[in-house]
Amino acid sequence: MKQENSISFTYKEFDTEEELDPSDLELLRSARTAAGNAYAPYSHFMVGAALRLESGKIITGTNVENAAFPSGICAERNAIANAASNYPGNKPVALAVAAYSEKEHSAEPVSPCGNCRQVIAEEEFRNKKNIRIILGGKNKIRIIESGGDLLPLQFNSESLRVTPR
Ligand code: THU
Repeated sequence: MKQENSISFTYKEFDTEEELDPSDLELLRSARTAAGNAYAPYSHFMVGAALRLESGKIITGTNVENAAFPSGICAERNAIANAASNYPGNKPVALAVAAYSEKEHSAEPVSPCGNCRQVIAEEEFRNKKNIRIILGGKNKIRIIESGGDLLPLQFNSESLRVTPR
């Protein structure tokens, strides 16, 4: 063995939303509101995501499920696809996620799934700009400074560059 490595990251945890910066709080509230528009007749897990662009604009997304299960899509990717399609060049700087099931906001903050982490990482990588992740639970809020922290040793466009022979 040449060496043993480790990767770690720090994140912040808050008990109440009043402790958040006003712009983070606004984004989290947008995500919570968006969750109400989720189409989740199969899981009943309603997710809302709110993406803040560098101009200050907020774009939201919800999960949209499908009878053919894999055709459904998560809230985070819908928000990102919406922003990328309609506001090209306006880089995302923060993403808030909130969810509720059976009319109750989930107590624990919801973490983006692996597919969404990959898509968040692509946005950060192509824009060379961190996306601050705000995960809102009922009584616990987590803030992670970069989506890339959630996907260490990630596969990205750099990985596709093959060494010339
Ligand atoms: N879901 C999201 O929209 N975002 C997440 O971060 C986790 C999961 C959706 C996908 C599916 O519609 C439902 O939640 C249950 O997995």
